[in-house]
Amino acid sequence: MEGRRDCPLPQTREKEKGIAMAREYNIAVIPGDGTGPEVAAEGIKALEAIAGKGGPRFRFTSYDLGGERYLKTGELLADQTLSELKGMDAIYLGAIGHPEVRPGILEREILLRIRFELDLYINLRPVVLFPGVDTPLKDKGPEDIDFVVVRENTEGLYAGSGGFLRRGTAEEVAIQESISTRNGVERCIRFAFEYCRNRNKDKHLTLCGKTNVLTYEFDLWNRVFEEVRTEYQDVTTNYQHVDAICMWMVKNPEQYDVIVTNNMFGDIITDLGAMIQGGLGIAAGGNINPHGTAMFEPIGGSAPKYAGLNKINPLAALSAAQMMLDHLGEKEAGRELLNAIKKVVKDDLKSLEAGKMGYGTRQVGDLVVGYL
Ligand code: IPM
Ligand code: MG
Repeated sequence: MEGRRDCPLPQTREKEKGIAMAREYNIAVIPGDGTGPEVAAEGIKALEAIAGKGGPRFRFTSYDLGGERYLKTGELLADQTLSELKGMDAIYLGAIGHPEVRPGILEREILLRIRFELDLYINLRPVVLFPGVDTPLKDKGPEDIDFVVVRENTEGLYAGSGGFLRRGTAEEVAIQESISTRNGVERCIRFAFEYCRNRNKDKHLTLCGKTNVLTYEFDLWNRVFEEVRTEYQDVTTNYQHVDAICMWMVKNPEQYDVIVTNNMFGDIITDLGAMIQGGLGIAAGGNINPHGTAMFEPIGGSAPKYAGLNKINPLAALSAAQMMLDHLGEKEAGRELLNAIKKVVKDDLKSLEAGKMGYGTRQVGDLVVGYL
């Protein structure tokens, strides 16, 4: 991790790929289910526009994965597909999730499997309120809501460890275990410190846990946090329980710069984060292996009730594309896309909510492209 100064992700990639290499990237696209294909198409449109203006170029390979395919063919994620995904520069995901598939199948066999097998151990979720966006928080503005959650992405309750005993009987036992490994915790916490330093906002990192109840798991997290902290004297730190964080994110979000936490808590607090930044229409995230590939997605899911209606907001997917550009080291293109998104939000859209934007999905994509 040494020697990184600016934004940690891009420099890692540049270093490993060699900065002078052709700026052409292999991108796997997983349009997926529901509104996924519609929003991913807008992201691709913007990336192609960037390429057309002399920016980086992209070779997109589309992968038909998700509930629709599963229902038709019974296929989830083939080993061959997985190994192709591993070789990509990045993965761009629309959404995975289908109302007719029992919860847990698509999630575990596709989404979580990609996260685990590609070792995408960081889930990076910015919570930023853009100027012109309504937040449900009274008296809070863009200067108050600007932080990033670093969520551990391969362990904890998501490890899938557990089982049933005497299933279906009156004596049934269900066990779900939370797995935290020393290495898993340490690499996540290190990433968070490094990211916080390089983000260079308040240089303040908050550990989100539950030390008063999860006395094994967060004892480990806390010890590792204290150890790694000594290497980052320029970063101030504090600890807060997850329930308190839910409260403070609503009451005083301005106190946060970077929050690091485990998989489950990160899942929960980032939905809250999405709401205070204006909703799922804008919230994006990256599933990242800092030394390998990464997958970027709007975090809103497949929104089946809006599928095919040209009503869903594609800006979350466009923000995901922007994060992907940053990750690939294409900072200038990323900045340009971000500015275009911000301009559309501020000057054009009536609302970020599906069906209330004043424009359709494709038109919003066109507006962004128009500002590039
Ligand atoms: C997310 C989602 C997933 C998660 C689901 C779909 C498995 O909620 O990316 O936050 O829990 O991680
Ligand atoms: Mg979630």
